[in-house]
Amino acid sequence: MNIAVLGAQWGDEGKGKIVDLLTPNFSVVCRYQGGHNAGHTVYANGRKFVLRLLPSGILHDGITCVIGNGVVVDPQALFAEIDEVSAAGVRIGDRLIISDKAHLILPYHRELDLLSEARRGERKIGTTSRGIGPAYEDKIARRGVRVGDLANREALREAVEHNVAARNRIIGDTTMDPRRVLDELQAAWERMSPWVTDVSLFLARARAVGRPIMFEGAQGTLLDIDHGTYPYVTSSNATVGGVCTGLGVPPRAIDGVLGVAKAYTTRVGEGPLPSELTGELGNRLRESGQEFGAVTGRPRRCGWYDAVAVRYAVRINGLDALALTKLDVLDGLPELQVCTSYRIRGASLTEMPGDVAQLAACEPVYETIAGWTSPTAGVRRYEELPREARAYVSRLEEITGVPAAIISTGSAREDTIIRQGSVAAKWFAP
Ligand code: GDP
Ligand code: IMO
Ligand code: MG
Repeated sequence: MNIAVLGAQWGDEGKGKIVDLLTPNFSVVCRYQGGHNAGHTVYANGRKFVLRLLPSGILHDGITCVIGNGVVVDPQALFAEIDEVSAAGVRIGDRLIISDKAHLILPYHRELDLLSEARRGERKIGTTSRGIGPAYEDKIARRGVRVGDLANREALREAVEHNVAARNRIIGDTTMDPRRVLDELQAAWERMSPWVTDVSLFLARARAVGRPIMFEGAQGTLLDIDHGTYPYVTSSNATVGGVCTGLGVPPRAIDGVLGVAKAYTTRVGEGPLPSELTGELGNRLRESGQEFGAVTGRPRRCGWYDAVAVRYAVRINGLDALALTKLDVLDGLPELQVCTSYRIRGASLTEMPGDVAQLAACEPVYETIAGWTSPTAGVRRYEELPREARAYVSRLEEITGVPAAIISTGSAREDTIIRQGSVAAKWFAP
């Protein structure tokens, strides 16, 4: 049984917590897209980990963790993360596998990310400035450098010299020395090479012997390069299609898809967010939800649950179920709103518009739902949730058309309700 766990909103839904929680039922955990723009928080062994490139299964011994060809890898960021988790007692050894076809983020990509944002001015994306977009640009333009290229010094030199010259033309200086870049890459290869292999072949063999695999998405459906709120998106396919292209596995290898969604909505960076709360309530959600970027520390924009957006994620990804996270953050609010449709120039819209200007012009249409007075924080059994919280969850299930198979009531592994009898119950079998 192989499942994909991915973001059903604008990222930061709590994928890290859910993937870590489910990992004991799997043998392999794979990242298929994105890079160290991701920040997946996991609380384990009494401390906090923010995983960026390493799959969120890494904290469980014996699990193989895969970085697929669809991921863009910054070697320095990867090593820093490996050092960080190793220092915390996590043994990596041969548990890590990196695709030879994954593209590299090189020093000029970070510069070009910053430059591109500066040049866009008012129209900036609000990227994480990790060089993600420019690395994917080089990939699509067929001039990128892949992990496997590090083994071929001569071809690597040619590619790096060519790309650094292009960088110099764009930036307008010659401060970047291609020889330094090459030396760094040589050192990176020495450290990385034992982990590098043909990921598609590895996964085919793993499947052949029945090892269950989890595919971990980064970012979220509304940040997907094709299906998100373009151009305010990331540069990869965070949706389920990315699993196949980002790892070299066939669609039939995916037996189920679990979407992760917060009980409200957040977004970091620019772009429309119809249910955004800019006043007191927005601050209240930001404070109680600790909504500050795991990677950049930027305050996240907060708003009510947008069921139009989540329903869209259900359609695009064929979600079987949702993991509904951060329900506890709504504790104590007398009244909650759920955005069930949009209103645009007097007309009602029940589906996500494809055009960002149109989305920006949409007003949310809300349904009011009663809040609850006793806390859900730390509740581990569905029956123990306050009646109003259960009604809220049921209503979200009704509007989105999928069951909330998991409900998260805190950042710790234990603060989780796993719904018995849900379609996804088989994924959690002990
Ligand atoms: P990811 O990128 O999807 O993995 O999510 P992030 O780690 O960026 O952001 C989610 C944040 O919410 C992290 O700080 C988690 O520790 C925290 N979190 C996850 N689930 C819950 C929950 O149910 N309740 C609360 N209060 N915090 C949670
Ligand atoms: P996880 O995996 C939330 C956002 C950035 C920006 C846009 C493009 O932790 O959910 P990029 O650097 O990717 O070119 O930035 O995408 N973004 C995220 N927002 N969570 C993430 O990852 C994100 N990764 C990128 O804020 O708006
Ligand atoms: Mg995150």
